[in-house]
Amino acid sequence: EKGGFRSFMDKEIHDQPHAVADTLLGRTDAHGRLVLDEVRIDESVLRSVDKIIVIACGTAAYAGHVAKYAIEHWCRIPVEVELAHEFRYRDPVVNERTLVVAVSQSGETMDTLMAVRHAREQGAKVLAIVNTNGSTIPRESDAVLYTHAGPEIAVASTKAFLSQITAAYLLGLYLAQLRGNKYADEVTEILDELRAMPDKIQQVLDRADRVREIARWMADTQSVLFLGRHVGFPVAMEGALKLKELAYIHAEGFAAGELKHGPIALIEPGLPVFVVVPSPRGRDSLHSKVVSNIQEIRARGARTIVIAEEGDEAVRPYADEVFYVPQSPTLLAPLLAVVPLQVFACELATAKGLDVDQPRNLAKSVTVE
Ligand code: F6R
Repeated sequence: EKGGFRSFMDKEIHDQPHAVADTLLGRTDAHGRLVLDEVRIDESVLRSVDKIIVIACGTAAYAGHVAKYAIEHWCRIPVEVELAHEFRYRDPVVNERTLVVAVSQSGETMDTLMAVRHAREQGAKVLAIVNTNGSTIPRESDAVLYTHAGPEIAVASTKAFLSQITAAYLLGLYLAQLRGNKYADEVTEILDELRAMPDKIQQVLDRADRVREIARWMADTQSVLFLGRHVGFPVAMEGALKLKELAYIHAEGFAAGELKHGPIALIEPGLPVFVVVPSPRGRDSLHSKVVSNIQEIRARGARTIVIAEEGDEAVRPYADEVFYVPQSPTLLAPLLAVVPLQVFACELATAKGLDVDQPRNLAKSVTVE
């Protein structure tokens, strides 16, 4: 069943090119326009949406955080991302013009389900992005956009995360197309770029040996930090979550810009810090800001492990290790940058002799609040 892999998680990490490709499959017509038949919410309602709230937990919420950057950019609709259990127990401002997007691999997470019910009671339309056919959350939502990652067996989410980002991007592009804004004309182009991602993910996987080697060396590590900016910020959070869950190592992710507002006090000689670096071909100030963050932490003795885009030589002088990923548009880069972090957590946990498929205290679907 594990297809020759040591664990389901290892297999699922390697399934990711397929998970993304399958999530993209069959969602355009002969003219290259997106057709999301499953999104059975009236087009007029979707045109009048003035706010999107993504509700989810854990890794699914980080997928929402990534999608926020893309959807706001393409659609100019404000997007909030909220943990389902927090959303449920406050008094959220929600009405008929709010589109609530519930993201869940299992479709059974009780916190998310309760938030879905709460949102619908307030008159919001709920669209579910879910991986498991016939599960409860899609049944209780107005519409569902399925991710086609295939069954995810390992407790820690990997391929579902990449497909959730992919599906949420499809939704963003669909809304842009429907609303005919300035990105409507670019939808086909962006879709082509998305379709190029599975091959690039494969390339990251093909070159992951060095990540595994570093992970094995670091089996005794007590604490690891993860930094990122823009879409790299939720990627850093997800990298930290994987390491906590699988390897039981204290890990923290934060926005690189926050460094000087507190976390830099944690930096001490030898502390491993992963830094997710945005493309130097994107908005230039973004890249150079992250490079100076690396410089700052390196100057304080941290061991810097950098995820950067191929060809980015500017990071080299300050990096103890660089893992290069193929070039891609900034918004799509999370689909690549998170992969070395998943491999790292999986390998480190394996090196510690832990059960990566069934980490202690965790359940695959959390059906209690
Ligand atoms: C992390 C992980 C959890 C889930 C979360 C939501 O690896 O697996 O954080 O992402 O419990 O689960 P779903 O997506 O099933 O609602």
